[in-house]
Amino acid sequence: MVAKLLGLAFLYLTASPFAFTAHGNPVYPVPTSSVKINPNWEVVYQDTDVYGVVNKAVILECGTTVPDIYIWSFTKPGTDAIKAVVYNLGKGPRIQQFAETLGKLTIISNSAAVSIEKLLLAAHGLFTCQAFYNIDKEPIVYYYYVHLTVRVPVSKPYLLLSDVSPVEGSTMWMQCNLENGTGPIQYVWQHETRSGNITVVAQGSSSAINVTDINRNHTGWYRCVATNAVNSESSNRLWLDTIFGPDIPRIDVTPYSITERGYSALERETVSLMCQAQSNPASQYVWFYNNSQVYSGPQFTITKVLRMHTGDYACLAQNTYLNTRSKKTISLTVYYPPDGSPSCSVEPALNHTALKLLCTWPGGFPSPSLDWTGDLENARKIQADTEQQSNVQSGTAILLPSGNLTSNNTLFRCMGSHPTLKQSTECGTRTYIPPAEPVCFAFVTNNQQYLMLSCSWDGGAPKALVWWEGPGGQSKGGQENSNILVLRYGTARSGKPYTCYAKHPLLMEAKSCRLTLEAPVLLTQRRVVSVYEGSDVQLTCNLRANYLPAKEITWFNNQGIDVRDTSKYMLLRTIGWANLTVRDADEMQDSGEYRCSTSNAVGGAEINVTLVVKKHPMPPNATLIRATYNSPKRTEVELEWQVDGVEEKGGWTGFHLEHQWVSERPNRRGSSNESQLRMEERIGPQDWQCTIIQEPDARSHTVRGLTPTVTYQFRIIPINHRTIGHPSPTKTPAEPRHNMYPAVIGAAIGGMLFAAILTVLLLIFIIRNRHNNPRLHDMLFGLQHSQSRENINFPEDEMVRGSEGIEDIGGSSSPGPAVSIPRASSPLTTSHLSATPTPSSQAPPPGEDNEPVSVTITVKATGS
Ligand SMILES: *[C@@H]1O[C@H](CO)[C@@H](O)[C@H](O)[C@H]1NC(C)=O
Ligand SMILES: *[C@@H]1O[C@H](CO)[C@@H](O)[C@H](O)[C@H]1NC(C)=O
Ligand SMILES: *[C@@H]1O[C@H](CO)[C@@H](O)[C@H](O)[C@H]1NC(C)=O
Ligand SMILES: *[C@@H]1O[C@H](CO)[C@@H](O)[C@H](O)[C@H]1NC(C)=O
Ligand SMILES: *[C@@H]1O[C@H](CO)[C@@H](O)[C@H](O)[C@H]1NC(C)=O
Ligand SMILES: *[C@@H]1O[C@H](CO)[C@@H](O)[C@H](O)[C@H]1NC(C)=O
Ligand SMILES: *[C@@H]1O[C@H](CO)[C@@H](O)[C@H](O)[C@H]1NC(C)=O
Ligand SMILES: *[C@@H]1O[C@H](CO)[C@@H](O)[C@H](O)[C@H]1NC(C)=O
Ligand SMILES: *[C@@H]1O[C@H](CO)[C@@H](O)[C@H](O)[C@H]1NC(C)=O
Repeated sequence: MVAKLLGLAFLYLTASPFAFTAHGNPVYPVPTSSVKINPNWEVVYQDTDVYGVVNKAVILECGTTVPDIYIWSFTKPGTDAIKAVVYNLGKGPRIQQFAETLGKLTIISNSAAVSIEKLLLAAHGLFTCQAFYNIDKEPIVYYYYVHLTVRVPVSKPYLLLSDVSPVEGSTMWMQCNLENGTGPIQYVWQHETRSGNITVVAQGSSSAINVTDINRNHTGWYRCVATNAVNSESSNRLWLDTIFGPDIPRIDVTPYSITERGYSALERETVSLMCQAQSNPASQYVWFYNNSQVYSGPQFTITKVLRMHTGDYACLAQNTYLNTRSKKTISLTVYYPPDGSPSCSVEPALNHTALKLLCTWPGGFPSPSLDWTGDLENARKIQADTEQQSNVQSGTAILLPSGNLTSNNTLFRCMGSHPTLKQSTECGTRTYIPPAEPVCFAFVTNNQQYLMLSCSWDGGAPKALVWWEGPGGQSKGGQENSNILVLRYGTARSGKPYTCYAKHPLLMEAKSCRLTLEAPVLLTQRRVVSVYEGSDVQLTCNLRANYLPAKEITWFNNQGIDVRDTSKYMLLRTIGWANLTVRDADEMQDSGEYRCSTSNAVGGAEINVTLVVKKHPMPPNATLIRATYNSPKRTEVELEWQVDGVEEKGGWTGFHLEHQWVSERPNRRGSSNESQLRMEERIGPQDWQCTIIQEPDARSHTVRGLTPTVTYQFRIIPINHRTIGHPSPTKTPAEPRHNMYPAVIGAAIGGMLFAAILTVLLLIFIIRNRHNNPRLHDMLFGLQHSQSRENINFPEDEMVRGSEGIEDIGGSSSPGPAVSIPRASSPLTTSHLSATPTPSSQAPPPGEDNEPVSVTITVKATGS
């Protein structure tokens, strides 16, 4: 509707029959009809239209030839009155007063045409020129009707706008006003932009236009141009200011980086957010971060943006004049690098048949890009089909197929890069096959509740999978590096293999090692141990090696009582053996069956050892050959004896010299009757009093502290260790011979000197001739030696029977309790044949009794 007048054609001045020269002088057309002579004397009428402009000149023609007489008259339109303007009756033109009201009228010489300068509007009307020709002869009368139209030029129009600041979308009108101007008038509306481009907005005959739906493009200068047949005039321009906006803002982010999440920026750089929203008047801007206002103004700059600045940024533009607003929100994500450097690891996958390479680098945003490189390329090519690749959060995992494709000690590298970091970083991981074979062993918990079968295969990368398969469903699923199968004590199966399998992703085949559980086997050096009374004897019991750990070995004594360390028994124990020492063996108390026993998770064993404590043989008989008081005081008795059959060496260790009170005679020196009576009451043999002589060589002894008034009898009993021999016949000491004392003493001294010389000579002789007379030599010098040999106390018969009672130590085969296989041939056996009894003073053997039970015993691994 706005400029629909545009299409209308301008109306221009219509061409008149008279063209005006630049000077306003008319060009005369020749009216051909007027030449004709009306034979009937009729008046000829001719009509012309002439256009003039106010204040300008116009020429009104009256025929082509000068008539003899003419009269110009004027009729005002709308009136009938006809008024003379000028006439010429042959005596020159006579201009009427009235002509002044029409303009400045003059007659053009040599013609009947009139020229009106400064044409007045009042001249508008019908001019009639009555022309008379040929009056003298036959007069011809012409009436020339000249219709003069007087036009007014358009005055300068002025533009009127209904609203110089219309709001976008509203409707307004423009009016082009004129004071003067002859119609029809054409109006043209022009729009001049800020840049000076002028366009026609509308044109037409209407002096007003409506502009509907005003928009910002209508802003600018407006003028209207009014045009009529005379002229064209342009109004002054008027500024039209369209009020609008704000539009939806445009946000420019620098540096510009857009992703599917919105804008992004790198941490620590400067980010500038520029907001622009078209508006008139200009917008006011407010910035919001996550719905809270942070800044006013078009440009919001964050220097050193941080990851916490991630979020939604909204720009609100306001038109304060219209009180309108618009808003735009963008999301800004701040990228930041992950911490440290990527970390690589290798894990088993698909039940340890494949390798999973894991590369992680947490913390950054967005997630860093991680790529496995290196030796991996080979494996990838080989098994491109089966390989899978999956992205784990903030990491990359790659699955590599198992087997010997990946050799030991392979390096895999992972390259990590992140948009915030200039340089990429890498990490590496190596795979290793465990260096050794799997190791299996068994142990028992301290409280003997559980049997543990342990299997380990350490040192792999990734860790190997280890699992147990045993008989009767006694199995245990896979664990890494090591696995312990826990069996309740006693539930383990004897003789059935427990197999541990170990699988490493780098190897196609699983490795294995095997444990077979067997009951313990006990061994002893000798099944029957004989010993002489009084010595210490050691009973040995040891476990045949290579079986499951057993409980502590226990000894039971001949009473069937569990043996503890006491003064009687000394128990030395380790995990492998228990030696029981019976101290000071006594024939009655200690002889009998001793039992040693143990058990492990799959069975028990025991072994009996018979201890035979023997008495020493009877010593030879001895005889007292002399018993004499050595003084009249009768308080000391000297005794001498001899051993019967002394040519037999040894056989005794000492003597018991005993005396017994026989009777008491009355006290010669006078004693009270009372005491005498009491003495007599005590008449009769008393207990033997014993003097122990531990010198086997002794042959004489002096008994002191005797009561002079008492009569004693003496006897000698040879002793062999604890075996007491037959007592000799008793002897009552003889009275001393007082008078013979000095002579006896003198003779004794002389005899002694003589005997000493003889003895020296005899000794020299014996030593020189000891080979010729060894018996004598032995008697004097070898006695000590023979006695010490006797102390070893080894009955000859036991030596002979020894082989029967000796348990085979290095022996083999049959498990089960107390199996004994006689074999005396091994060097081990022979070396242990002798010297079981040991003196109690002997130091205990090295070795810890209380070692923990969980010491490993069996290592029997089978690789496959
Ligand atoms: C319009 O015409 C009148 C009469 O002729 C004159 O007085 C007036 O000044 C003219 N107006 C303009 C703007 O020319
Ligand atoms: C003026 O506007 C017209 C039409 O809109 C366009 O074709 C022309 O290029 C513009 N001229 C200038 C100088 O802007
Ligand atoms: C302009 O709008 C007014 C009111 O709506 C109406 O009267 C007038 O005729 C319209 N003028 C033109 C030129 O359309
Ligand atoms: C304003 O003019 C521009 C270019 O001439 C044009 O692209 C835009 O659509 C116009 N706007 C309106 C509201 O007509
Ligand atoms: C802002 O909003 C974003 C997205 O909803 C959110 O991640 C961020 O934590 C928010 N920031 C604050 C300071 O609330
Ligand atoms: C894993 O491997 C072991 C031995 O090769 C097999 O017994 C077990 O069934 C496997 N498990 C799965 C889930 O494939
Ligand atoms: C694997 O390589 C490591 C390091 O070179 C080495 O210690 C290990 O013994 C190797 N294992 C095998 C099974 O070769
Ligand atoms: C030793 O004496 C006892 C008793 O006096 C006698 O029975 C025995 O035969 C004697 N022994 C020898 C070897 O004379
Ligand atoms: C205990 O007996 C074993 C043989 O069974 C022997 O090897 C070990 O040395 C003995 N220990 C001691 C302290 O005598």
